Amino acid sequence: MRGVIIAGGKGSRLYPLTKTINKNLLPIYDKPMIYYSIEMLRDAGIKEILIVTGTEHSGQFINLLESGDEFGVKLHYEVQKEPLGPADAINVAKDFARGEKIVVIFSDNIFEYDIKKACEDFKDQKEGAKIFLKEVSDPERFGVAEVKDGKVIAIKEKPKNPKSNLAVVGLYMYDKKAFDIIATLKPSQRGEYEVTDLNNFYVKNNEMTFEILKGHWTDAGTFDSLLAVNNWVAEKRKK
Ligand code: G1P
Repeated sequence: MRGVIIAGGKGSRLYPLTKTINKNLLPIYDKPMIYYSIEMLRDAGIKEILIVTGTEHSGQFINLLESGDEFGVKLHYEVQKEPLGPADAINVAKDFARGEKIVVIFSDNIFEYDIKKACEDFKDQKEGAKIFLKEVSDPERFGVAEVKDGKVIAIKEKPKNPKSNLAVVGLYMYDKKAFDIIATLKPSQRGEYEVTDLNNFYVKNNEMTFEILKGHWTDAGTFDSLLAVNNWVAEKRKK
C-alpha cells in the first residue's frame, strides 16, 4: 500500500497563524505537524509517501522534508492547483497510486493509534474502503457516521443534528476505485469536493468497513484543539 498525506487547505480557522505558514507546518510541541503523519505511516511499514500541498506553500514542504531519508521513507510531492476540497486533493494522488490500495491521512489529524494491523486487515479486504470512528463530544465539527448492526449506513458532513457521536477521523483506506468515484462527485454547498461523498459511495455499495479508533486523537484545526494536542504530546514525551 502507498501513503498519501493531505497537507493542503486554507487553514482559515487558524488565521493569522496560517497567514504565511501552512497549517501543517505549525509546531506540535517539538516537531512540525506533518512529521506526525509521516512517522505514523512509516511505523506501519509504508515507505512510499505522497505529500499533496496547495501551490502557495509547496516549496516550504520540500525545504523541510527533502527526500524523506531522515525518516527512512521516500517522499513524493504533488500540488493541488486550487483548494477544491479534500476529495479533489485525494484525486491528485491518482498517478502516484498506480492502481494500488492507498492510505490517506489528513495531516492536521494527530493520532496515538498504530495503524499497522488495520493496514494488514485492509490488504486482506477484497475491495472497498475503510474508515475510523471516534466518539467525541462535539460531532457537529466532523463527518458523523450512523452505525447499525455493525455496519456504517450513512455519513453526514458536519450535521447540525448529528445522529451519533461517532466522528469520522481524517484517516482513510481506499481501493483503486476511489479515483473513478471522485470523478463522479459534485461540489458540496461550500463549493468543495467532500471526502464524505466519496465515503458514502462505498457505504451505498456495501463496501465500507470501519474500526473504532483506539487511543488519543485530535483534529488540530482550531486554536483550542491545537493547544490541547501540543499539551498532550508534551506530557506524553515526559513519560
Ligand atoms: C474533514 C472532513 C470531515 C472529517 C475531518 C477529520 O473536515 O471533511 O469529514 O471528520 O476532516 O479531521 P475538515 O477538517 O476539513 O473541515
